[in-house]
Amino acid sequence: MREFDGVVSRREPSGSVHRIYLPFILLLLIFTPRVDSSWWYIGALGARVICDNIPGLVNKQRQLCQRHPDLMQSIGEGAKEWIRECQHQFRHHRWNCSTLERDHTVFGRVMLRSSREAAFVYAISSAGVVYAITRACSQGELKICGCDTNRRGRASDEEGDFDWGGCSDNINYGIKFAKAFVDARERMVKDARALMNLHNNRCGRMVLERNMRLECKCHGVSGSCTTRTCWMTLPKFRELGFILKDKYSHAIHVEPVKATRHKRPTFLKVKKPYSYRKPMDTDLVYIEKSPNYCEADPVTGSVGTQGRVCNKTLLHHPNGCDLMCCGRGYNTHQYSRVWQCNCKFFWCCYVRCNTCSERTEVYTCK
Ligand SMILES: *[C@@H]1O[C@H](CO)[C@@H](O)[C@H](O)[C@H]1NC(C)=O
Ligand SMILES: *[C@@H]1O[C@H](CO)[C@@H](O)[C@H](O)[C@H]1NC(C)=O
Repeated sequence: MREFDGVVSRREPSGSVHRIYLPFILLLLIFTPRVDSSWWYIGALGARVICDNIPGLVNKQRQLCQRHPDLMQSIGEGAKEWIRECQHQFRHHRWNCSTLERDHTVFGRVMLRSSREAAFVYAISSAGVVYAITRACSQGELKICGCDTNRRGRASDEEGDFDWGGCSDNINYGIKFAKAFVDARERMVKDARALMNLHNNRCGRMVLERNMRLECKCHGVSGSCTTRTCWMTLPKFRELGFILKDKYSHAIHVEPVKATRHKRPTFLKVKKPYSYRKPMDTDLVYIEKSPNYCEADPVTGSVGTQGRVCNKTLLHHPNGCDLMCCGRGYNTHQYSRVWQCNCKFFWCCYVRCNTCSERTEVYTCK
């Protein structure tokens, strides 16, 4: 059994869940006009999922949900993980991904746009589904999948021969399921945004697949590596977050193209004059330029940066006060911290300390 850093797989006690979540679901049903990517609610709702009560699932998703409730549980846990990762990657940005867990209607609206931020969220959430399912497969939590049975016997890499051992993560099942489940809604719509979302969903899955790696253990006398046992493993989720964040920074501006005699856009091309290049599968793509996220704007899903903590000494950095506060200026808050310091032990038996203090200033955007 392998261990995964920072990931705790936890099952909610069953029984009480319905009672807790039903009012929630009703609220969501009442206050959610049209939610674009409602399977994210699975994360918000926690472990037990009541497929019929999740608003906005398309038929195909509802069927998959009913057929594989145990998978839905993994997806829910995966959702918490990718939302956390998104917030970590964007903690210094004006758009900081924080609306995801609290306010799903705002999140939905952010997603209504076809911005870079949407591209990142689609990619990381789609990869997150694959990740969560693959991990659950390896941990033996799902009936339908397990370790990669093709990794048997001997093999070799650039360092020499090794034996397959342990449990190799089998990403294929997760990819198949995520394709069917996550892409289901976009496959119905067939507009420019759907093309964009499908592209970014696939990009997320591909990035994860390409960053699978071989992990090995050496055996032999006194640390010599006479034989090795190896297995394939998922990268750390943090690493996936960094890679996708980098792709976000280099995302490609695209525009939809209609083939002749088609009513709907059929593919995306790089938005440059005289260019008919298609974006690469491993690039994130966006159609609309992002708003600046300076002011609260319910239309774009921006909550603004008022009250955000910024760093006064950083210039031209996303987290510096000039950029973060969009030129509105900042408020200064002074705190003093007092603690015991330079403690000495005297024989016998007492300790004498000095009192130290430090003033700190915190800046928040006006
Ligand atoms: C993200 O921004 C919101 C709104 O400005 C703020 O309330 C929240 O504390 C921020 N989250 C983090 C992690 O900085
Ligand atoms: C602000 O940025 C500087 C330079 O990177 C850093 O040394 C300092 O710790 C930061 N201040 C805060 C409050 O994060």
